Amino acid sequence: MDESPTVTAADYTLTANSAAASAAERTRLMEAPAFGMVFTDHMARATWTIDGGWGNRRVEPFADLALHPGATVLHYSQQVFEGLKAYRWADGSTRLFRPEGNARRMAASAARLGLPALSEQDFLASIEALLAVDGDWVPTEGESSLYLRPLLMGTEPCLGVRPSHEVEYLLMACPVGAYFSGGVRPVSIWVAQGFHRAGEGGTGQAKTGGNYAGSLLPQQQAQDNGCDQVLFLDAREDKYIEELGGMNVFAVRRDGTVWTPRVTGTILEGVTRASVIELLRAEGREVVERDISLEALREGISDGSVVELFACGTAAVITPIARLVSPDFDVLVGDGGPGTLTMHLRTVLTDIQYGRRDDQFGWMTQIA
Ligand code: COI
Repeated sequence: MDESPTVTAADYTLTANSAAASAAERTRLMEAPAFGMVFTDHMARATWTIDGGWGNRRVEPFADLALHPGATVLHYSQQVFEGLKAYRWADGSTRLFRPEGNARRMAASAARLGLPALSEQDFLASIEALLAVDGDWVPTEGESSLYLRPLLMGTEPCLGVRPSHEVEYLLMACPVGAYFSGGVRPVSIWVAQGFHRAGEGGTGQAKTGGNYAGSLLPQQQAQDNGCDQVLFLDAREDKYIEELGGMNVFAVRRDGTVWTPRVTGTILEGVTRASVIELLRAEGREVVERDISLEALREGISDGSVVELFACGTAAVITPIARLVSPDFDVLVGDGGPGTLTMHLRTVLTDIQYGRRDDQFGWMTQIA
């Protein structure tokens, strides 16, 4: 049972940004923002101490942080983060997609990194408080949204390797469109060579910055080889596909079944991944969570038994995959165009997120 005191948005004390963007400036900034490059006027914060627990909840002007150079996060990467989106509906309201899933995952990630969790209620209260002041930053155009990035980090000045006694919670927000440059288009995937994202017992299941730091060099190699994203294989056998640098992966088979790597403790359990599985099963499709070897996947693409591949995540939504590439092969999935089921899923999911379709699963939470 959660025995933490009730927290509401009113607990987040507002200090308004006197230099907030004008309406005209905001409109200009929101025109075509590259992913995660434009930030709103404010951020929500809360501070945890080992003696006092969570407190000092506030919404303040978005600004650089003052951080002690000895802060744990800077040395030992004691940090976890989340990603979720706020959507503007045609009726003017603002809704979140399954935010409780992100709150729970952040708590689980925090536990793995020796960080204190923020309660689900507090997580939602911080979002409500930020949107109360920065609500005009939720885009109204097309399939754009306000990407919310909550973050927990150890801030205690301490070079001893132990969990920090001081922790900061930060929530920032960025108006975003498509994650990949060039909009929604089929992307190409490079199979990581000699690099693994996570090992058994490691932090692969946690959404922590270190997992992403380790993906940067292989991701760079993907780009050097003309690909958009990197695909990691398992660390034990270097054989089974796990996930992309920042998103989960699915394969659609000619027989109508859909396969995705099973979560083993080394894969991030995406909220979008779970939603795709639920959507497919609700449509009567068989979804198989299993080990998928790279060899079987490549052969399936070549012999036509795998007809579509797609990536999914909060940022990527559902993105078709056109090509799978390694030094040994370069295979086109289907005709390289966006798959029918992939685009159907994308339409159903985004219709729910933007209120164009009945929210039959009760996934949307009105926040403003
Ligand atoms: C997300 O989809 O929200 C992610 O965190 C992936 C990436 C942008 C880090």
